[in-house]
Amino acid sequence: MTDTVTDAVALDLLGDILVATVDNPPVNALSHAVRAGLVAAVDRLENDGDARAMVILCAGRTFMAGADIREFGKPMQDPQLGNVIDRLDACGKPIVAAMHGTALGGGLEVALACSYRMADPAARFGLPEVTLGLLPGSGGIVRTPRLIGVEAALPMITEGRPVSADHAQKTGLIDEIATGDLREAALAFAARIVADGAKLRRTSDLPVPEYDRALLDQARTTLARKYKGQNAPQQAVDLIEMASDTAFREAAHKEFAACKALVASPQSKALRHVFVAERAALKIDGVPRDTKPREVRKVAVVGPGTMGRGIAICFLDAGLPVVLIGNNQDTLDKADTVIRKIYGGQVKRGRMSEAQVNDRMAALTLTLDYDGLDGVDLAIEAVTEDMDVKKDVLSKLEQALHDRAIIATNTSFLDIEALASSLSRPENFAGMHFFNPANVMKLLENVRAKATAPDVLATMTAIGRKLGKTPVMVGRSEGFVANRMLSKRSREAQFLLEDGATPQQVDRVLTGFGFPIGPFALADLAGMDIMAAARQTRIAGMTQRERDCDIVDQLAAAGRLGRKTGSGYYLYDEEGKGHPDPAVEELLAAHRTKRGLPQREITDQEILERCLYAMVNEGAHLLDEGGAARPGDIDVIWTSGFGWPRHLGGPMFWADQIGLAKIKDALDTYCALVGDQYFTPANLIETRVAEGRGFFD
Ligand code: COA
Repeated sequence: MTDTVTDAVALDLLGDILVATVDNPPVNALSHAVRAGLVAAVDRLENDGDARAMVILCAGRTFMAGADIREFGKPMQDPQLGNVIDRLDACGKPIVAAMHGTALGGGLEVALACSYRMADPAARFGLPEVTLGLLPGSGGIVRTPRLIGVEAALPMITEGRPVSADHAQKTGLIDEIATGDLREAALAFAARIVADGAKLRRTSDLPVPEYDRALLDQARTTLARKYKGQNAPQQAVDLIEMASDTAFREAAHKEFAACKALVASPQSKALRHVFVAERAALKIDGVPRDTKPREVRKVAVVGPGTMGRGIAICFLDAGLPVVLIGNNQDTLDKADTVIRKIYGGQVKRGRMSEAQVNDRMAALTLTLDYDGLDGVDLAIEAVTEDMDVKKDVLSKLEQALHDRAIIATNTSFLDIEALASSLSRPENFAGMHFFNPANVMKLLENVRAKATAPDVLATMTAIGRKLGKTPVMVGRSEGFVANRMLSKRSREAQFLLEDGATPQQVDRVLTGFGFPIGPFALADLAGMDIMAAARQTRIAGMTQRERDCDIVDQLAAAGRLGRKTGSGYYLYDEEGKGHPDPAVEELLAAHRTKRGLPQREITDQEILERCLYAMVNEGAHLLDEGGAARPGDIDVIWTSGFGWPRHLGGPMFWADQIGLAKIKDALDTYCALVGDQYFTPANLIETRVAEGRGFFD
């Protein structure tokens, strides 16, 4: 008979095996009802003379996926997870964890405290706390190295890297992979243990196997580079070292204390904010949660240029056949060559096999016409940024496709409503703004137009996820969110050069903040010819000062095209390292004289504020205009696409930490210094400051 001990845990005694089933949708997080239920299960196991062993398994899609993130920051109700783990560890009868889906964080810690672990072949195991600025606090750090050794434990704990069932079995993290039904296999496994004398195995009794101490310093160096500015990965290494030199109980106390302190750290708050914001971004206003996405079985991409090729690769990689349409054979041939070359690179790096490349190329059709689009459920145009050219392509697609096929534009700055107006089925139309290189960049700005049907919006989000991207739905606005905010940072970076800063000073301040690369080093990488051409496309909408600020054009005219010519904002040596160049100083000095701009000493603070507050203000303008739905969406865009350090939570979260009142004061100062047209605070900032609120209050 099933005994429901709490809302989330039920017990069944089957012969002499007690089965504890955790059922706490959606991911069986270790909320209070689960923790209390597990303690009740151990009580029952210890006190029921008929029960000789226990199996813990989970209902639904996954084993326990960790602590309940929604309980963080609130007082934690007893029993704490640590108490649950202690009870499992101390239990005098064997317990088997039977895992499927993902056993993560506290979920894996529960399993590590059991005597035996078995799993479904597709299960994955991980300690992802570090990705939330936390560390495992209930035995993950003290038990994992004891069980599998420091070398195997390091990437799991310091980077949150999950491992597969095969890998887990090889390292000894789990004992057995189930064949067939997991519950049946777990019962049979437990029966064997009972038949074998119901032996206990406590990870806490094991020593940490000997290991090469150099591994720790290597990890510290690698992590400092990979997770620049993040505290938790470094602390993880320190704790692993501590755990290998300290008796189990004392080490467990230290582990818990370190984790507890991290919960309140600004970095963890920011990383948790991004985790929640990423999931919130998948919920689209006006699209009920049960909206069924349309089926997408085949895709067409129009325009075999850089973007079109990258987009085609995204879909091929996701297992969908693609028709790539061009308007001349040369560009199609080039697309074929370039796509093969990109896949060839993957083969060289060992990421793909020749057979996989052949399969993908076989799924790609290159064509000059719009015939043969039967079965295409989604078409994306990626042709020249010209309203008439795009409208022509959209109408050809509408004629060639079935009535419910979705048509998307990859425009970067054209008006989505103007494009929609050219269609007779605008409900099927939306934007899918990929970023170059489309097959690499995680960010996907999906753009909704007024008439876009809810199930089309749901499909675009679902497709984004299928492509392995971070899809964020944005609204109509000029330049959408990412590029538009970036353009304000770029503008200020250029103006700062005019005012007296150097490229290396601006780059140093922004990389010091946490961006992987500064704007000028990035321009040198992209190429000054490309930057100058991009500037020309925007020149009509520029202010007089922006037009006059033609440093990019001057560098391009001087042949300083960036890395590819050995000089740009920097001078590159033979190893490709950039150095400040007196010739650039001279060019800037001459530019300032010509423009009659006095050179000032620019502080690092001014650089940071002008570049980043301009972005925050633009984000607020976008929220005012409906270009972005939520401040969290903007944070997701910037942390997933444009190098904003994740542990600083994105521009809008960061702004709240600084305080909007302080930001508004600075914006007012820069209105006087740089110009009202650049820094007038957005209405949202004015109103939030007047109400004493931030973006997220
Ligand atoms: N606590 C509370 N809720 C959680 C959660 C957790 N630890 N992990 C996931 N959820 C919620 C999500 O917020 C989402 O809720 P929503 O549907 O209301 O948006 C839902 O569970 C599904 O999560 P999602 O990430 O969309 O599903 P998925 O199938 O893509 O991934 C996981 C599932 C478990 C792999 C993923 O959610 C995950 O990595 N979770 C965090 C695990 C973790 O870090 N644990 C350690 C915590 S210290």
